[in-house]
Amino acid sequence: MYRKIFSYVGEYKKKAILSPIVIIGEVAMEVLIPTIMAMIIDNGIKQNKISYVVGMGLLMVGMAVVSLCFGALAGRLSAVAAMGFAKNLRSALFRKVQSYSFSNVDKFSTASLVTRLTTDVTNAQNAFMMFIRGAVRSPIMLICATIMAVRMNSRLSLVFLAAIPVLGFAIFFIVIKAHPRFEAMLTKYDAMNSRVQETLIGSRVVKAFVREDYEKENFRKTADNVRKAQVFAEKLVILNGPIMQFCMYSSIIAILWFGGSMAMDGSMGTGELSSFITYVSQILMSLMMLSMLFMMFVISRASMHRIYEVLNEEPSIKGAENAEITAQDGSVRFENVSFSYFDDMNNLALEHIDLDIKSGETIGIIGGTGSSKTSLVQLIPRLYDATEGNVYVGGHNVKDYPLETLRSQAAMVLQKNVLFSGTIRDNLRWGDENASDEEIIDACKSACAHDFIMNFPDGYDTYLGQGGVNVSGGQKQRLCIARALLKKPKIIILDDSTSAVDTATDSSIRKAFREKLSETTTFIIAQRISSVKDADRIIVMDDGKISDIGTHDELLARNEIYQEVYLSQQKGAED
Ligand SMILES: Nc1ncnc2c1ncn2[C@@H]1O[C@H](COP(=O)(O)OP(=O)(O)OP(=O)(O)O)[C@@H](O)[C@H]1O
Ligand SMILES: [Mg+2]
Repeated sequence: MYRKIFSYVGEYKKKAILSPIVIIGEVAMEVLIPTIMAMIIDNGIKQNKISYVVGMGLLMVGMAVVSLCFGALAGRLSAVAAMGFAKNLRSALFRKVQSYSFSNVDKFSTASLVTRLTTDVTNAQNAFMMFIRGAVRSPIMLICATIMAVRMNSRLSLVFLAAIPVLGFAIFFIVIKAHPRFEAMLTKYDAMNSRVQETLIGSRVVKAFVREDYEKENFRKTADNVRKAQVFAEKLVILNGPIMQFCMYSSIIAILWFGGSMAMDGSMGTGELSSFITYVSQILMSLMMLSMLFMMFVISRASMHRIYEVLNEEPSIKGAENAEITAQDGSVRFENVSFSYFDDMNNLALEHIDLDIKSGETIGIIGGTGSSKTSLVQLIPRLYDATEGNVYVGGHNVKDYPLETLRSQAAMVLQKNVLFSGTIRDNLRWGDENASDEEIIDACKSACAHDFIMNFPDGYDTYLGQGGVNVSGGQKQRLCIARALLKKPKIIILDDSTSAVDTATDSSIRKAFREKLSETTTFIIAQRISSVKDADRIIVMDDGKISDIGTHDELLARNEIYQEVYLSQQKGAED
């Protein structure tokens, strides 16, 4: 896991390696300074050699400056490397998510993917920075300071050699106990983030249902859960401080006690004693740093794992990317197709569908809500894969196409469609980047969008807010149809795409389709019989199965479901 994630350090590797090397220089200076201090006191001051004191003093200042520069440089290197690492990791995650199919996204949920791309990457970035700074610095400091102290006075060193196991055991205990608590905290974090996401994305609905107070209370609870989990986890970690201080000060007291008597009977210099104390604090300090480092890893491990899951997920739908095939025509064939959203043959959304649709036909699809109309057509551009059986487009199995080819030839206007922030023209160009203005206008005329666009003061340069908030539902639908038309597909699927459009406009869109797109196979999913009446054939869906296929008149004569829908709509119209 770590290897895969850290491979994204990429071009920042040099900086990430250089940083610990510079740190070694910094540590070397820091470790030598106390020894020089001891020499100044014991050889210089005590024997009144002023020139020696000045010379060594200057050397000490020089070393301090060098150490400072190294420290600053290492800090800069590690920060740059960690930020670069985070950028690379985020881009990799984003690229990966782009390759996901609908079912991959369903699996993680959008909110969780956002958290993983933001919070979790930040955790990984912090851990990485701590790691390149501390993982080298602390052990080296620990070893060097220990060597210096033992060389200075091996008998006195026994004191802190006794303190180290105590501290080590305490740290070990904390790490073991804290890990599960931090994992629990992250799940709470996740819940909070998805709450924020959901309410912000659905803020209009929240307002429409006057649910603000409820949502506020709900959020307060989730935020409080995060707090509780954090306190629970941190409670253990903060024990680190007092334990550390306790060990440090008892060692210092013991050293002053034993060292003091050594200094008095002359077997140890006072300078040596004060340097010795500095070394002891360096040793204990680096132990504390090491423990914090451990802690950081404990916290970030859960995040790393979540990042790894996203990176490691295989896109469930992959095109035959190098195949060079194109659809010969706009024909569509379903061969004994069954489909489940859960890959479970006992929980089918579509059962044994056989269909043969000729190129250029207009097919209406009608059926109650939840009768799997959307499920049926989304297999054509391979938004999902059939669980059993095969789907053929233009004479080839959909699995044999590169995804891009397939989806540009079989364009689907989704039931829940979105526009993006940008001008109307930008949005339309999603269909074809190189579309000329004439082509754009032409597509908009077919979708009956040209007139209302021209009514905006800025026309095609009108700026759309996020999700297309500043156009009406029906206008949005027409823009989405125009956008799909610009792809010049051989097959176009309109999934309830005119539900918010008035009947008159709906009928002129269909007229335009008949006249201009007679070559294009058209699927029209609709709730209104009037929308599909003129289709060459109409499919009646019922609970995941095809109840009947035929023309309006045929179905009206023989299909009960169709008759029912027709009569209820006739009646509604007469009322
Ligand atoms: N992403 C999904 N994951 C799991 N189940 C789903 C998913 N999408 C749809 N379903 C289920 O599949 C069944 C068919 O849904 P589908 O969207 O195809 O119906 P529909 O005929 O298009 O309905 P509507 O007219 O309301 O759009 C429903 O029972 C629905 O609950
Ligand atoms: Mg649907």
